[in-house]
Amino acid sequence: MHTENDAQSVSTALVARIGAAIDAAGGWLPFSAFMARALYEPGLGYYASGRIVVGRMPEGGSDFITAPELSPLFGRALARQVEEMLEASGGDEVWEFGAGSGALASELLSALGPRIRRYSIVELSAPLQQRQRAATREFAGVVRWLDALPERMNGVVIGNEVLDAMPVDLLHFDGSAWFERGVARGDGARALVFADRPTALRPPNASALPAGTTTEIHAQGEAFVATLAERMERGAALFVDYGFPEAEYYHPQRSQGTLMCHREHRSDPDVLADVGIKDITAHVDFTGTALAGQDAGFDVAGYTSQARFLINCGLGELMERASLRARAEAAMLVNEHEMGELFKVIAFTKGLPDYAPLGFAGGDRRHRL
Ligand SMILES: C[S@@+](CC[C@H](N)C(=O)[O-])C[C@H]1O[C@@H](n2cnc3c(N)ncnc32)[C@H](O)[C@@H]1O
Repeated sequence: MHTENDAQSVSTALVARIGAAIDAAGGWLPFSAFMARALYEPGLGYYASGRIVVGRMPEGGSDFITAPELSPLFGRALARQVEEMLEASGGDEVWEFGAGSGALASELLSALGPRIRRYSIVELSAPLQQRQRAATREFAGVVRWLDALPERMNGVVIGNEVLDAMPVDLLHFDGSAWFERGVARGDGARALVFADRPTALRPPNASALPAGTTTEIHAQGEAFVATLAERMERGAALFVDYGFPEAEYYHPQRSQGTLMCHREHRSDPDVLADVGIKDITAHVDFTGTALAGQDAGFDVAGYTSQARFLINCGLGELMERASLRARAEAAMLVNEHEMGELFKVIAFTKGLPDYAPLGFAGGDRRHRL
């Protein structure tokens, strides 16, 4: 486990590297360039420095918990959807993006056995790849790791809490015009500060946002979904993440955006402090995600809350057969005030015009996107 001193010295080195990038770019970096380095700079970024990152308790060194870590029933319910999607597409390959500790991969592989001929993990973080190798050791002949997206895909793509980890750009509205909010060198106590520039970036599709609004736009996440749509020949993609449709995202009551840091199971909004020691995330704009996929050739096959999706996939029956403790953990996946409502699931398909995925059989909310 890393000590606080190790963490601070990695952060100091990372801030120096970001400072040099700011100088090289003429004194200012787009926020997405800052966020990409803060999270993924080789050897120094939050996901690249060997921190434990995902887990149950701060004592284990982790910073946040995700659904596959919280309950194995998440993966078992999702397995029913993945199996149906494999059947519908006639494929036998699964791609997982950003597989974290490998918990979901191992659950899906156990549940689906030989139905999955190959399980390909695309993971940017070298230390997380090592954890995934250990977690999926018993499926060594089936699992492989890729550094980049394959050129062509047939089968099922999944990503849990991956879109929220993709770098975003920031926009700021001063009451009359929009500016792009980036990062510059500070002086005195803060090594890095925000700095605004005039911008040609398209502001969010919303009216009546108050002066002082700062919000995010998701060009990288949307480009990622568009690339998947272009490369998928026949199959489906499922993304689970926290977020909202555009009308709720770009709402006057959310005028400070959704950027958030996570460290030791606590959250704070100060993204320019303790760089590399905290996770940085933004909620997902599911309308933008859906449109990006659709424009590039995907059909949007379903959109609903995590609670609805898991219940449609049979989580209730799985819970009936589980121990009391396992039931209590799984309940957190669906409780409205925990993960059930804030987290959403979106499904895309390609080449499957008549297929309606079971996870959206009740409570589909595509009309709200
Ligand atoms: C919040 S973690 C979620 C981990 C895991 N899916 C879970 O649910 O526990 C985000 C993950 O996304 C990965 N990631 C971010 N951008 C990615 C990209 N473009 N391609 C693949 N993985 C990516 C990170 O390295 C990290 O593993």
